Amino acid sequence: MKEYRIAVLEGDGIGPEIVSEAVKVLDRTAQSFGFAVSYERSLLGGAAIDAKKTPLPQKTVECCKTADSVLLGAVGGPKWDALPGNQRPEAGLLGIRKALGLYANLRPAVIFGPLKDASPLKSEVVGEALDIMVVRELTGGIYFGKRGTLEENGVKAAFDTEKYSVTEIERIAHTAFDLARKRNRRLCSVDKANVLDSSRLWRQTVCRVAEEYADVELSHMYVDNCAMQLVRNPAQFDVIVTSNMFGDILSDEASMISGSIGMLASASLGGSGFGLYEPIHGSAPDIAGMDVANPLATILSVAMMLRYSLGEPEAAQAIEDAVARALVTARTRDIYSPDCGAVLISCHEMGDLVASLVRPA
Ligand code: NAI
Ligand code: MG
Repeated sequence: MKEYRIAVLEGDGIGPEIVSEAVKVLDRTAQSFGFAVSYERSLLGGAAIDAKKTPLPQKTVECCKTADSVLLGAVGGPKWDALPGNQRPEAGLLGIRKALGLYANLRPAVIFGPLKDASPLKSEVVGEALDIMVVRELTGGIYFGKRGTLEENGVKAAFDTEKYSVTEIERIAHTAFDLARKRNRRLCSVDKANVLDSSRLWRQTVCRVAEEYADVELSHMYVDNCAMQLVRNPAQFDVIVTSNMFGDILSDEASMISGSIGMLASASLGGSGFGLYEPIHGSAPDIAGMDVANPLATILSVAMMLRYSLGEPEAAQAIEDAVARALVTARTRDIYSPDCGAVLISCHEMGDLVASLVRPA
Protein backbone atom coordinates (compact mmCIF):
# COMPACT_ATOMS: atom_id res chain seq x y z
CA MET A 1 0.00 0.00 0.00
CA LYS A 2 1.27 3.48 -0.82
CA GLU A 3 2.09 5.52 2.27
CA TYR A 4 2.42 9.30 2.35
CA ARG A 5 4.31 11.09 5.12
CA ILE A 6 2.75 14.42 6.00
CA ALA A 7 4.44 17.09 8.11
CA VAL A 8 1.72 18.73 10.19
CA LEU A 9 2.23 22.28 11.47
CA GLU A 10 -0.89 23.19 13.43
CA GLY A 11 0.37 26.64 14.38
CA ASP A 12 -1.73 28.49 16.92
CA GLY A 13 -5.14 30.18 17.34
CA ILE A 14 -7.73 28.06 15.49
CA GLY A 15 -4.87 26.14 13.80
CA PRO A 16 -5.09 22.99 15.97
CA GLU A 17 -8.91 22.78 15.68
CA ILE A 18 -9.10 23.08 11.90
CA VAL A 19 -6.08 20.85 11.25
CA SER A 20 -7.56 18.13 13.40
CA GLU A 21 -10.71 18.09 11.21
CA ALA A 22 -8.63 18.05 8.02
CA VAL A 23 -6.61 15.08 9.34
CA LYS A 24 -9.88 13.30 10.18
CA VAL A 25 -11.08 13.75 6.59
CA LEU A 26 -7.71 12.70 5.11
CA ASP A 27 -7.70 9.53 7.24
CA ARG A 28 -11.18 8.60 6.04
CA THR A 29 -10.21 9.38 2.43
CA ALA A 30 -7.10 7.21 2.71
CA GLN A 31 -9.24 4.29 3.96
CA SER A 32 -11.71 4.70 1.08
CA PHE A 33 -9.06 5.02 -1.60
CA GLY A 34 -6.58 2.42 -0.33
CA PHE A 35 -3.53 4.40 0.69
CA ALA A 36 -1.94 5.08 4.07
CA VAL A 37 -0.96 8.38 5.66
CA SER A 38 1.43 9.01 8.55
CA TYR A 39 1.84 12.32 10.33
CA GLU A 40 4.76 14.05 11.99
CA ARG A 41 3.79 17.12 14.01
CA SER A 42 6.13 20.11 14.39
CA LEU A 43 5.93 23.51 16.00
CA LEU A 44 5.50 26.76 14.06
CA GLY A 45 4.56 30.32 14.95
CA GLY A 46 3.25 31.22 18.39
CA ALA A 47 3.32 27.62 19.61
CA ALA A 48 7.01 27.42 18.66
CA ILE A 49 7.79 30.79 20.29
CA ASP A 50 6.19 29.63 23.55
CA ALA A 51 8.01 26.28 23.58
CA LYS A 52 11.29 27.03 21.78
CA LYS A 53 11.61 30.83 21.76
CA THR A 54 11.73 30.96 17.96
CA PRO A 55 8.86 31.05 15.41
CA LEU A 56 10.63 28.55 13.14
CA PRO A 57 12.74 25.87 14.86
CA GLN A 58 15.30 24.17 12.61
CA LYS A 59 13.67 20.82 13.49
CA THR A 60 10.46 22.02 11.85
CA VAL A 61 12.30 22.85 8.62
CA GLU A 62 13.96 19.38 8.64
CA CYS A 63 10.63 17.66 9.33
CA CYS A 64 9.04 19.42 6.31
CA LYS A 65 12.00 18.70 4.03
CA THR A 66 11.81 14.95 4.66
CA ALA A 67 8.01 14.73 4.30
CA ASP A 68 6.03 14.08 1.12
CA SER A 69 3.88 17.12 1.79
CA VAL A 70 3.14 19.74 4.46
CA LEU A 71 -0.20 20.64 6.05
CA LEU A 72 -0.32 23.94 7.92
CA GLY A 73 -3.04 25.53 10.08
CA ALA A 74 -2.44 29.20 10.82
CA VAL A 75 -0.28 31.40 13.03
CA GLY A 76 -0.36 34.76 14.78
CA GLY A 77 -2.22 36.63 17.44
CA PRO A 78 -2.21 39.55 19.88
CA LYS A 79 -0.29 37.50 22.45
CA TRP A 80 2.89 37.95 20.37
CA ASP A 81 2.19 41.47 19.05
CA ALA A 82 4.88 43.13 21.13
CA LEU A 83 7.68 41.05 19.57
CA PRO A 84 9.86 42.58 16.83
CA GLY A 85 8.80 41.67 13.27
CA ASN A 86 11.42 39.00 12.71
CA GLN A 87 10.48 37.15 15.92
CA ARG A 88 6.70 37.16 15.48
CA PRO A 89 4.69 34.06 14.52
CA GLU A 90 4.23 35.39 10.97
CA ALA A 91 8.03 35.39 10.53
CA GLY A 92 7.84 31.59 10.95
CA LEU A 93 5.34 31.40 8.12
CA LEU A 94 7.42 33.52 5.74
CA GLY A 95 10.51 31.59 6.84
CA ILE A 96 9.12 28.12 6.13
CA ARG A 97 7.86 29.17 2.66
CA LYS A 98 11.30 30.58 1.87
CA ALA A 99 13.22 27.63 3.37
CA LEU A 100 11.23 25.20 1.23
CA GLY A 101 11.54 27.34 -1.94
CA LEU A 102 7.76 27.59 -2.32
CA TYR A 103 7.47 30.53 -4.68
CA ALA A 104 4.03 29.90 -6.15
CA ASN A 105 0.90 30.26 -4.06
CA LEU A 106 -2.25 28.97 -5.74
CA ARG A 107 -5.46 30.33 -4.24
CA PRO A 108 -8.64 29.14 -5.88
CA ALA A 109 -11.74 31.28 -5.27
CA VAL A 110 -14.53 28.85 -5.99
CA ILE A 111 -18.17 29.20 -5.07
CA PHE A 112 -19.81 25.97 -4.01
CA GLY A 113 -23.35 25.78 -5.42
CA PRO A 114 -25.16 25.59 -2.06
CA LEU A 115 -23.24 28.67 -0.86
CA LYS A 116 -24.49 31.08 -3.52
CA ASP A 117 -26.73 32.67 -0.91
CA ALA A 118 -23.73 33.25 1.39
CA SER A 119 -21.93 35.52 -1.08
CA PRO A 120 -22.29 39.21 -0.27
CA LEU A 121 -22.59 39.83 -4.04
CA LYS A 122 -25.93 39.53 -5.83
CA SER A 123 -26.32 36.19 -7.56
CA GLU A 124 -26.56 37.86 -11.00
CA VAL A 125 -23.12 39.42 -10.34
CA VAL A 126 -21.58 36.17 -9.13
CA GLY A 127 -22.84 34.37 -12.25
CA GLU A 128 -23.35 30.65 -12.73
CA ALA A 129 -20.06 29.24 -11.47
CA LEU A 130 -17.38 31.44 -9.99
CA ASP A 131 -13.99 29.79 -10.35
CA ILE A 132 -10.96 32.08 -10.18
CA MET A 133 -7.40 30.92 -9.56
CA VAL A 134 -5.16 33.58 -8.01
CA VAL A 135 -1.48 32.75 -8.51
CA ARG A 136 0.47 34.78 -6.00
CA GLU A 137 4.27 35.09 -6.03
CA LEU A 138 5.28 34.00 -2.53
CA THR A 139 8.99 34.37 -1.82
CA GLY A 140 9.85 37.78 -3.27
CA GLY A 141 8.59 41.34 -3.36
CA ILE A 142 7.99 43.70 -0.48
CA TYR A 143 7.54 41.01 2.21
CA PHE A 144 11.14 39.96 1.66
CA GLY A 145 12.73 43.23 0.46
CA LYS A 146 15.14 45.45 2.31
CA ARG A 147 13.46 47.16 5.26
CA GLY A 148 14.39 49.43 8.07
CA THR A 149 13.66 52.37 10.28
CA LEU A 150 15.57 55.63 10.31
CA GLU A 151 15.35 59.20 11.42
CA GLU A 152 15.07 62.06 8.94
CA ASN A 153 15.44 65.59 10.33
CA GLY A 154 14.49 64.32 13.77
CA VAL A 155 11.37 62.50 12.46
CA LYS A 156 11.12 58.73 12.66
CA ALA A 157 10.54 56.96 9.32
CA ALA A 158 10.34 53.34 8.13
CA PHE A 159 10.61 51.68 4.72
CA ASP A 160 10.03 48.38 2.95
CA THR A 161 11.25 47.62 -0.56
CA GLU A 162 9.45 45.99 -3.47
CA LYS A 163 12.05 44.23 -5.64
CA TYR A 164 11.60 41.52 -8.27
CA SER A 165 14.19 39.89 -10.50
CA VAL A 166 13.46 38.66 -14.02
CA THR A 167 14.11 35.10 -12.81
CA GLU A 168 11.52 35.40 -10.05
CA ILE A 169 8.93 36.85 -12.44
CA GLU A 170 9.63 34.30 -15.15
CA ARG A 171 9.10 31.27 -12.93
CA ILE A 172 5.82 32.50 -11.45
CA ALA A 173 4.65 33.49 -14.95
CA HIS A 174 5.37 29.96 -16.17
CA THR A 175 3.37 28.49 -13.27
CA ALA A 176 0.43 30.75 -14.14
CA PHE A 177 0.52 30.14 -17.90
CA ASP A 178 0.79 26.37 -17.38
CA LEU A 179 -2.25 26.49 -15.10
CA ALA A 180 -4.23 28.71 -17.48
CA ARG A 181 -3.49 26.20 -20.22
CA LYS A 182 -5.18 23.46 -18.14
CA ARG A 183 -8.19 25.70 -17.45
CA ASN A 184 -9.89 28.24 -19.71
CA ARG A 185 -6.71 29.66 -21.28
CA ARG A 186 -7.19 33.18 -19.95
CA LEU A 187 -4.53 34.84 -17.80
CA CYS A 188 -4.73 38.31 -16.28
CA SER A 189 -1.45 39.72 -14.94
CA VAL A 190 -2.00 42.30 -12.21
CA ASP A 191 0.54 45.00 -11.42
CA LYS A 192 0.95 48.73 -10.85
CA ALA A 193 3.10 49.40 -13.93
CA ASN A 194 1.79 52.97 -14.20
CA VAL A 195 3.73 53.83 -11.02
CA LEU A 196 6.25 51.18 -9.99
CA ASP A 197 9.48 50.19 -11.78
CA SER A 198 9.24 46.69 -10.31
CA SER A 199 5.78 46.41 -11.92
CA ARG A 200 7.08 47.61 -15.29
CA LEU A 201 9.69 44.82 -15.22
CA TRP A 202 6.92 42.42 -14.13
CA ARG A 203 4.78 43.37 -17.16
CA GLN A 204 7.66 43.23 -19.67
CA THR A 205 8.73 39.83 -18.38
CA VAL A 206 5.22 38.36 -18.38
CA CYS A 207 4.81 39.59 -21.98
CA ARG A 208 8.04 37.84 -22.99
CA VAL A 209 7.01 34.57 -21.31
CA ALA A 210 3.64 34.87 -23.10
CA GLU A 211 5.41 34.31 -26.43
CA GLU A 212 5.77 30.65 -25.38
CA TYR A 213 2.03 30.39 -24.75
CA ALA A 214 0.31 31.58 -27.92
CA ASP A 215 -2.76 29.52 -26.96
CA VAL A 216 -3.32 31.50 -23.73
CA GLU A 217 -5.00 34.91 -23.91
CA LEU A 218 -3.02 37.37 -21.76
CA SER A 219 -4.41 40.61 -20.37
CA HIS A 220 -2.96 43.16 -17.94
CA MET A 221 -4.72 45.09 -15.22
CA TYR A 222 -3.62 47.62 -12.61
CA VAL A 223 -4.17 46.34 -9.10
CA ASP A 224 -6.59 49.09 -8.06
CA ASN A 225 -8.77 48.38 -11.09
CA CYS A 226 -8.57 44.64 -10.40
CA ALA A 227 -9.79 45.17 -6.83
CA MET A 228 -12.80 46.96 -8.28
CA GLN A 229 -13.40 44.48 -11.15
CA LEU A 230 -13.40 41.52 -8.73
CA VAL A 231 -16.60 42.79 -7.15
CA ARG A 232 -18.05 44.37 -10.31
CA ASN A 233 -17.75 41.33 -12.57
CA PRO A 234 -15.78 38.43 -11.03
CA ALA A 235 -16.79 36.05 -13.81
CA GLN A 236 -14.44 37.86 -16.23
CA PHE A 237 -11.44 36.24 -14.48
CA ASP A 238 -9.97 32.79 -14.95
CA VAL A 239 -6.34 32.84 -13.75
CA ILE A 240 -4.81 35.94 -12.12
CA VAL A 241 -1.04 36.18 -11.62
CA THR A 242 0.40 38.83 -9.34
CA SER A 243 3.05 39.79 -6.82
CA ASN A 244 3.27 38.73 -3.19
CA MET A 245 1.47 41.67 -1.56
CA PHE A 246 -1.09 42.32 -4.32
CA GLY A 247 -1.90 38.60 -4.31
CA ASP A 248 -2.30 38.57 -0.54
CA ILE A 249 -4.87 41.35 -0.70
CA LEU A 250 -6.72 40.35 -3.88
CA SER A 251 -7.11 36.73 -2.80
CA ASP A 252 -8.71 37.78 0.51
CA GLU A 253 -11.08 39.95 -1.52
CA ALA A 254 -11.83 37.10 -3.95
CA SER A 255 -12.39 34.78 -1.00
CA MET A 256 -15.24 36.86 0.30
CA ILE A 257 -17.10 36.49 -3.00
CA SER A 258 -17.24 32.79 -2.21
CA GLY A 259 -19.06 33.46 1.06
CA SER A 260 -16.35 33.30 3.71
CA ILE A 261 -12.61 33.40 4.13
CA GLY A 262 -13.15 30.11 5.98
CA MET A 263 -13.85 28.40 2.64
CA LEU A 264 -10.64 29.04 0.76
CA ALA A 265 -7.71 26.68 0.44
CA SER A 266 -4.23 27.25 -0.90
CA ALA A 267 -1.24 25.39 -2.25
CA SER A 268 2.28 26.75 -2.05
CA LEU A 269 4.52 25.05 -4.59
CA GLY A 270 8.16 25.05 -5.65
CA GLY A 271 9.30 23.71 -8.98
CA SER A 272 9.23 20.02 -8.03
CA GLY A 273 5.64 19.24 -7.09
CA PHE A 274 6.46 19.30 -3.38
CA GLY A 275 4.07 21.64 -1.61
CA LEU A 276 2.71 23.18 1.55
CA TYR A 277 -1.06 23.35 1.95
CA GLU A 278 -2.93 25.77 4.17
CA PRO A 279 -6.14 27.76 4.41
CA ILE A 280 -5.77 31.37 3.28
CA HIS A 281 -7.20 32.76 6.51
CA GLY A 282 -5.23 33.53 9.66
CA SER A 283 -5.37 32.13 13.17
CA ALA A 284 -8.67 33.93 14.01
CA PRO A 285 -7.73 34.57 17.66
CA ASP A 286 -11.23 36.00 18.24
CA ILE A 287 -12.80 32.53 17.88
CA ALA A 288 -9.88 30.24 18.85
CA GLY A 289 -10.81 27.33 21.11
CA MET A 290 -14.57 27.87 20.66
CA ASP A 291 -15.17 25.03 18.17
CA VAL A 292 -16.96 27.44 15.80
CA ALA A 293 -14.27 27.91 13.11
CA ASN A 294 -14.99 26.72 9.60
CA PRO A 295 -12.59 23.82 8.89
CA LEU A 296 -13.50 23.61 5.18
CA ALA A 297 -10.62 25.78 3.92
CA THR A 298 -8.19 23.38 5.60
CA ILE A 299 -10.11 20.31 4.43
CA LEU A 300 -10.07 21.69 0.88
CA SER A 301 -6.33 22.34 1.26
CA VAL A 302 -5.94 18.59 1.85
CA ALA A 303 -7.82 18.03 -1.43
CA MET A 304 -5.32 20.33 -3.17
CA MET A 305 -2.47 18.34 -1.58
CA LEU A 306 -3.87 15.10 -2.99
CA ARG A 307 -4.22 16.67 -6.42
CA TYR A 308 -1.01 18.70 -6.76
CA SER A 309 1.57 16.80 -4.68
CA LEU A 310 0.43 13.24 -3.99
CA GLY A 311 -1.00 12.29 -7.37
CA GLU A 312 -4.41 11.21 -6.01
CA PRO A 313 -6.84 13.31 -8.10
CA GLU A 314 -9.84 11.00 -7.54
CA ALA A 315 -9.40 11.24 -3.78
CA ALA A 316 -9.15 15.04 -4.10
CA GLN A 317 -12.37 15.15 -6.08
CA ALA A 318 -14.10 12.94 -3.51
CA ILE A 319 -13.27 15.44 -0.75
CA GLU A 320 -14.50 18.40 -2.83
CA ASP A 321 -17.73 16.52 -3.61
CA ALA A 322 -18.18 15.65 0.08
CA VAL A 323 -17.79 19.34 1.00
CA ALA A 324 -20.42 20.35 -1.57
CA ARG A 325 -22.81 17.70 -0.21
CA ALA A 326 -22.18 18.71 3.40
CA LEU A 327 -23.05 22.36 2.67
CA VAL A 328 -26.53 21.40 1.49
CA THR A 329 -27.50 20.31 5.00
CA ALA A 330 -25.17 22.05 7.46
CA ARG A 331 -23.07 25.17 7.91
CA THR A 332 -20.61 26.62 10.38
CA ARG A 333 -21.36 30.02 11.86
CA ASP A 334 -19.46 32.10 9.27
CA ILE A 335 -21.63 30.82 6.39
CA TYR A 336 -24.86 30.27 8.29
CA SER A 337 -27.98 32.42 8.22
CA PRO A 338 -31.36 31.49 9.73
CA ASP A 339 -32.96 31.33 6.26
CA CYS A 340 -30.19 29.32 4.54
CA GLY A 341 -32.07 26.06 4.83
CA ALA A 342 -29.20 24.26 6.59
CA VAL A 343 -28.51 23.59 10.27
CA LEU A 344 -25.82 25.36 12.28
CA ILE A 345 -23.01 23.01 13.32
CA SER A 346 -19.63 23.28 15.06
CA CYS A 347 -16.13 22.93 13.66
CA HIS A 348 -15.73 19.30 14.74
CA GLU A 349 -19.24 18.38 13.57
CA MET A 350 -18.38 19.74 10.11
CA GLY A 351 -15.23 17.56 10.08
CA ASP A 352 -17.31 14.51 11.08
CA LEU A 353 -19.92 15.27 8.43
CA VAL A 354 -17.46 15.73 5.55
CA ALA A 355 -15.52 12.61 6.59
CA SER A 356 -18.76 10.60 6.60
CA LEU A 357 -19.57 11.79 3.06
CA VAL A 358 -16.21 10.95 1.42
CA ARG A 359 -16.61 8.03 -0.93
CA PRO A 360 -15.19 6.87 -4.25
CA ALA A 361 -17.19 8.23 -7.23
P1 NAI B 1 -7.94 36.09 10.21
O1 NAI B 1 -8.03 35.47 8.86
O2 NAI B 1 -7.32 35.30 11.27
O3 NAI B 1 -9.42 36.51 10.70
C1 NAI B 1 -10.20 37.49 10.00
C2 NAI B 1 -11.65 37.29 10.38
O4 NAI B 1 -12.13 36.10 9.73
C3 NAI B 1 -11.88 37.08 11.87
O5 NAI B 1 -13.09 37.66 12.24
C4 NAI B 1 -11.97 35.57 12.04
O6 NAI B 1 -12.76 35.15 13.11
C5 NAI B 1 -12.59 35.17 10.70
N1 NAI B 1 -12.11 33.83 10.28
C6 NAI B 1 -10.88 33.52 9.83
N2 NAI B 1 -10.81 32.20 9.58
C7 NAI B 1 -12.02 31.69 9.87
C8 NAI B 1 -12.56 30.37 9.84
N3 NAI B 1 -11.85 29.31 9.43
N4 NAI B 1 -13.84 30.20 10.23
C9 NAI B 1 -14.57 31.24 10.63
N5 NAI B 1 -14.13 32.50 10.69
C10 NAI B 1 -12.86 32.72 10.32
O7 NAI B 1 -7.16 37.46 9.99
P2 NAI B 1 -6.71 38.55 11.09
O8 NAI B 1 -7.73 38.67 12.16
O9 NAI B 1 -6.34 39.72 10.30
O10 NAI B 1 -5.38 37.96 11.68
C11 NAI B 1 -5.28 37.20 12.89
C12 NAI B 1 -3.85 36.70 12.99
O11 NAI B 1 -3.59 35.75 11.96
C13 NAI B 1 -2.82 37.81 12.84
O12 NAI B 1 -1.81 37.57 13.77
C14 NAI B 1 -2.33 37.64 11.42
O13 NAI B 1 -1.03 38.10 11.22
C15 NAI B 1 -2.40 36.14 11.27
N6 NAI B 1 -2.50 35.67 9.88
C16 NAI B 1 -1.93 34.45 9.62
C17 NAI B 1 -2.05 33.89 8.41
C18 NAI B 1 -1.53 32.51 8.22
O14 NAI B 1 -1.20 31.84 9.17
N7 NAI B 1 -1.45 32.03 7.00
C19 NAI B 1 -2.74 34.58 7.30
C20 NAI B 1 -3.38 35.80 7.70
C21 NAI B 1 -3.23 36.34 8.96
MG1 MG C 1 -3.53 37.40 3.86
